[in-house]
Amino acid sequence: MNSQEQFDRQASHYNSEWNQWSESSLEWLLNHSEARITDRLLDVATGTGFTALAFAPRVAEVVGLDVSNGMLDQARSRATDSGTQNTSWQQAPAEKLPFADASFDLVTCRVAPHHFVDIRAFVSEALRVLRSGGRLLVADTSVPDGLPHLDEWQNRVEWLRDRSHVRNYSPGEWSTMLTAVGFAVEQIERCDEAKPIRLQDWMAKSGCTGDAAEQVEQMFRDAPHDARREFSIEQLADGDVAFKWMRVVLAARKP
Ligand SMILES: C[S@@+](CC[C@H](N)C(=O)[O-])C[C@H]1O[C@@H](n2cnc3c(N)ncnc32)[C@H](O)[C@@H]1O
Repeated sequence: MNSQEQFDRQASHYNSEWNQWSESSLEWLLNHSEARITDRLLDVATGTGFTALAFAPRVAEVVGLDVSNGMLDQARSRATDSGTQNTSWQQAPAEKLPFADASFDLVTCRVAPHHFVDIRAFVSEALRVLRSGGRLLVADTSVPDGLPHLDEWQNRVEWLRDRSHVRNYSPGEWSTMLTAVGFAVEQIERCDEAKPIRLQDWMAKSGCTGDAAEQVEQMFRDAPHDARREFSIEQLADGDVAFKWMRVVLAARKP
């Protein structure tokens, strides 16, 4: 299943409960954006607009872009309900941004790059649409550098749970990709969430059932010792499992 199909299906129940899983990373982006009230901001893979709407009061204009019209409809309603007037929403892929060169001061992208079929195309496109001196801010699930078995375990679990998952990149991979296209990486950090995720809830939200759900549960039961430590995996008394995914947050500037 591709992202468009997966997120059209999830749009009606993609609400603040999901956002709780990534609230700290949103806080980090807001605190490190250096956003100015005159800025034009593009939020790539905006979903139902959590990041776009959080930035809207701090900038002149926000454009939210996503492949899923279902998610964009929710973003539009959310903007109307909150009385936000400086947002617009556009359907397009992150890999081919329908905007002129140097047309934005800021590009944000949160909890989404792991779905992109061509991450390098996204990074190049973000560079192209930013003005010189503009900044790219990213927050996403991640894997540790230099631990290939953890990387493989984590990305396999994610893919079994949601077939639109492509890959969680390590901080080192992000640095390499950004530097390769010409960004100057200014900050890159690990920013894990305060609130643990419960496995059954996590699978239910993406519609993971049957064989796939059993495989995910088995992988958690058999999780390597260092995966348990790295992702705070904990067996709960009620039979469910709690964990915290690793997050990477970063700011990179177009020279
Ligand atoms: C977890 S949601 C995004 C959440 C949102 N950024 C936020 O901060 O709350 C992931 C989004 O990525 C979108 N997406 C996945 N692949 C995409 C692509 N190649 N181009 C644009 N959007 C994409 C999905 O449609 C979905 O809305």
